[in-house]
Amino acid sequence: LGTSRLLLVSNRLPFTVKVDQKGQVSLAPSTGGLATGMRPLLESGLATWVGWPGISEEAAGNLRDSISKTLRLRGVVPVWLNSREIEGYYEGFCNSTIWPLFHYFVERAAYDEDYWRWYVEVNRKFADVVLQAYRRGDVIWVHDYHLMLLPSLLRERLGDDVPIGFFLHIPFPSFEVFRQLPWREDIIRGLLGADLIGFHTYDYMNYFLESVRRLLGIEHYLGELKYGERSVKVDVFPMGIDFGGIRAAAMGEAVAAKYNELRKKLGDVKVIFSIDRLDYTKGLPERLRAFKRLLEKYPEYRGKVSYIFVVSPSRERVEEYARLKREINELVSEINGQFSTLEWTPVIYIRRFIPEEELLALYRLANVALITPLRDGMNLVAKEYIAANVGHNGVLIISEGAGASSDLVEAIVVNPNDYDGVADALKRALDMSDYERENRMASLESRVSSYDVNAWSYDFVSTLLSFKKTQAAEI
Ligand code: G6P
Repeated sequence: LGTSRLLLVSNRLPFTVKVDQKGQVSLAPSTGGLATGMRPLLESGLATWVGWPGISEEAAGNLRDSISKTLRLRGVVPVWLNSREIEGYYEGFCNSTIWPLFHYFVERAAYDEDYWRWYVEVNRKFADVVLQAYRRGDVIWVHDYHLMLLPSLLRERLGDDVPIGFFLHIPFPSFEVFRQLPWREDIIRGLLGADLIGFHTYDYMNYFLESVRRLLGIEHYLGELKYGERSVKVDVFPMGIDFGGIRAAAMGEAVAAKYNELRKKLGDVKVIFSIDRLDYTKGLPERLRAFKRLLEKYPEYRGKVSYIFVVSPSRERVEEYARLKREINELVSEINGQFSTLEWTPVIYIRRFIPEEELLALYRLANVALITPLRDGMNLVAKEYIAANVGHNGVLIISEGAGASSDLVEAIVVNPNDYDGVADALKRALDMSDYERENRMASLESRVSSYDVNAWSYDFVSTLLSFKKTQAAEI
């Protein structure tokens, strides 16, 4: 990067601002892959981050300016959104249209003109804030589905010389699904304002390139295409995690103490573990049903295995999410009602944010991590589990619907809708020999440690900058 700054732009910042009833302001770490994965980039001091602080302008009230000041001291430039904007853009177009559609929940996608108008409006608002923050020489890196119009909006106002990258953290769907979106061409043109567009997997990249071809008639050559006068490059960058940081923390004293405490409390039951945002893409009811199938099909595990099932509340104002919460409550009580004994609880259900120490202790403790989303752009929890599983005493089960399954080939890969298959995979994981388990975990560890979040961001930014040089040479 030399002397230039990296200007990261995303809807969600790595921490969310909270104001309590007494007017006390606090910053809580945000949940979700993007925020947790990229937080180290901000902490390294290399980046300035532009994004929404997670509360409405109205909720911040007259504290708005002092919050902005505190954030700026941390290298963050806030984009304030009012409650109408949050409703139409964030809850509406982002999470009731794009999110379900791009995760193949086509029947849940709402096509609403108003939502679209708010999406355009808020992307323009982000453009204004980025332009104010921008200094000559900066490299701009826009993230995720909330801001797919931003690359073009910035390009129009900054000209062709400024390096602009875009990375999509969720799947890009196949053309058959994408074409259902009434504003499909606007989205493609919005993205093509970037010089480099990155995806987690080859499938997502190919689906995007096919959409460009079918909608705009533009062919690509080895992932490069001509859009007007400019060339655009499209490539794959499977996102990594802060392996070193997580490993060091997992080996620290605080986590060890928590680990011992939990181990004592749980006795000698084996532990299956998962942690997700409470989202219908994560396959949570399906997973509970598969665990139930394990207990039915293999009764020898009753009393011997508990499933620690952690979910963090998410997007609660969107109806689909509220409904899911009720469904999960029912399933957990059904399983526990049927199988619990005075000494043993099959599903230990925790629905709140858990602090990092506790999470790392649980990763260390878990004999099996059961990560089975129906669809997931990447899923960094799977990678965090590998980083924190210091003793190599765990087995990762991952769904083929997660981008991470194309990366983590030594995991046990399952179809999340196949309850019998998942129950069998659980049995296989619980009974696995030490030799096989250690071998698998060691290979996974070497993958996740070699392409960590620093390697990932370095790879993306250096590809962007060297592509910019080739573009200049073409003119
Ligand atoms: C996914 C998205 C992120 C988002 C996160 C949490 O990981 O790719 O962009 O920040 O979910 O969702 P939220 O709506 O709380 O930002």
